[in-house]
Amino acid sequence: MHNDDYVKSGDFLARREAARQRNDRLTGATGGDAEDRQAWFETVYLEAGGDPAAVPWADLAPKAVLVDWLAKNPGQGRRALDVACGLGDNAEALAAAGYKTSAFDLASEAIAWAKKRFPQSAVDYIAGDLFALPEDWKGAFDLVHECYTIQAMKDPLRADAIPAIASLVAPGGTLLLISRTREEGSEADGPPWPLMPSEWRSFEDHGLTLKHFQDYELARPDRTIPHVLAEFRKS
Ligand SMILES: C[S@@+](CC[C@H](N)C(=O)[O-])C[C@H]1O[C@@H](n2cnc3c(N)ncnc32)[C@H](O)[C@@H]1O
Repeated sequence: MHNDDYVKSGDFLARREAARQRNDRLTGATGGDAEDRQAWFETVYLEAGGDPAAVPWADLAPKAVLVDWLAKNPGQGRRALDVACGLGDNAEALAAAGYKTSAFDLASEAIAWAKKRFPQSAVDYIAGDLFALPEDWKGAFDLVHECYTIQAMKDPLRADAIPAIASLVAPGGTLLLISRTREEGSEADGPPWPLMPSEWRSFEDHGLTLKHFQDYELARPDRTIPHVLAEFRKS
């Protein structure tokens, strides 16, 4: 079955819904302290038992906006980092576009799963915490790609995530951000907690300049979900 059909099949969706109900009952599902929230991610991957339907954000394909962006911005051997890579689809797209790619996630189970899915991968998959990354990663990556991680965090993790991600970009390098968005000042009933413009633009407070952004919507049967793709450059 084609991947798109597989993730939209009734059976897959039924397993996803059952898992959602289980995941929502776990400690840290809707917040808690930083430790609870981080433990929740680990538990979701572990309890999935190898079934991607049980990992709510696993599309089993790279984000379409990322693929479009990469077609216009090939890597030509430059270094890329995928932040909180989950099951690895976006990291694989970065490598396929010619970036020498590293990818990390807090959940060691996610990293093991990504390696299993892509056994011939050129991506260097590493278990790691955004808030405790190797010192020599600071300023080391020509492209840093962040998709859906910040929106999965509440303050204080969220406020700390933005400078932590910004610090990874090399001088002259690019940060590519993909996130759900919400109107300035509106409440978020997360998770996820979509970013307000003032939040995603605050990368500009951490040595990055906004070069381009694109608002877009993803259609769901019952609603549309506002998103942004934003490209920043470090001077
Ligand atoms: C909503 S998922 C998004 C995964 C992937 N980026 C994607 O687009 O499919 C958020 C990911 O962030 C990871 N994560 C959460 N806190 C983290 C941290 N402090 N450091 C690294 N990864 C973290 C989780 O394990 C999870 O894989």
